[in-house]
Amino acid sequence: EQRKSELKAKIKALLKEQNAVMVAHYYTDPEIQALAEETGGCVADSLEMARFGRDADEQKLIVAGVKFMGETAKILSPEKTVLMPTLEATCSLDLGCPVDEFSAFCDAHPDHTVVVYANTSAAVKARADWVVTSSIALEIVEHLDEQGKPIIWGPDRHLGSYIAKQTGADMLMWQGECIVHDEFSAQKLQDMKAIYPDAAVLVHPESPASVVEMADAVGSTSQLIKASQEMSNEMFIVATDKGIFYKMQQLTPGKTFIEAPTGGNGATCKSCAHCPWMAMNGLEAIYNSLTEGKAEHEIFVDDALREKALIPLDRMLDFSA
Ligand code: 13P
Ligand code: SF4
Repeated sequence: EQRKSELKAKIKALLKEQNAVMVAHYYTDPEIQALAEETGGCVADSLEMARFGRDADEQKLIVAGVKFMGETAKILSPEKTVLMPTLEATCSLDLGCPVDEFSAFCDAHPDHTVVVYANTSAAVKARADWVVTSSIALEIVEHLDEQGKPIIWGPDRHLGSYIAKQTGADMLMWQGECIVHDEFSAQKLQDMKAIYPDAAVLVHPESPASVVEMADAVGSTSQLIKASQEMSNEMFIVATDKGIFYKMQQLTPGKTFIEAPTGGNGATCKSCAHCPWMAMNGLEAIYNSLTEGKAEHEIFVDDALREKALIPLDRMLDFSA
């Protein structure tokens, strides 16, 4: 505990000294979210993180999240220094969508509009017509569907099928998934609902369709937080990364939040509702990003790639403005 408060004090001083600001995701550990808040940074979903980083006056961003979030910040603000607590923090969706294979998939269907989730590399974004995050995906696909062109969707198959179902759009899916959300179990959720019949079920659409079907509210992290405030229920079963409980509890301290169960058919969970890559954003790592050589922490995106990736990213930000 003493080491932790020392680190926090040092980080606060270094952020000030270096004119740097933290941009953190709701899935990072509670103490990281609290630190971002205490130092004038942001705690947000991936869309709001992108916007905050772009609009921040500070010329140095410490992105506490995963690599695609750092890359997005750099694409939007090439003049800023974008540092991450660790460059090892990746995402199973990004890992499962290598650019060469994804490009070949797109090339095989040239009449399709390519829509990619923000959870992808800069190179995959550069191959896309549109980038979306989970908070804006439905609206953007609805808009594209009105134009009548079929869509290539990548990489999250669960989010893709949810959107296809909601919009009726013609979508060809890349078969990726988030290792955290993929573990939520509909069967176990049924059992939990039987125990807590008054609890509302909040589900992130990266979860399997069987779990999404049981939801009282489906949405991005910020949409689920909003639902937990607005719904009159006293208790919520939450199918997303448990990092989100920090904000939910902060906003409605009187309510009870329980983790949705993971691991179907007797299997034990691997990530157990907490993203292993988000968990890498510890205090020590943040301190190191402000003190060590930049090589271990700085995000770079090749210029040519950056210019290409900026187009679909700007499209999303303009659409949601
Ligand atoms: P949102 O915060 O945009 O809902 O994204 C969730 C996510 O997968 C981040 O890793
Ligand atoms: Fe990727 Fe899932 Fe982790 Fe989000 S929670 S960074 S989608 S692996």
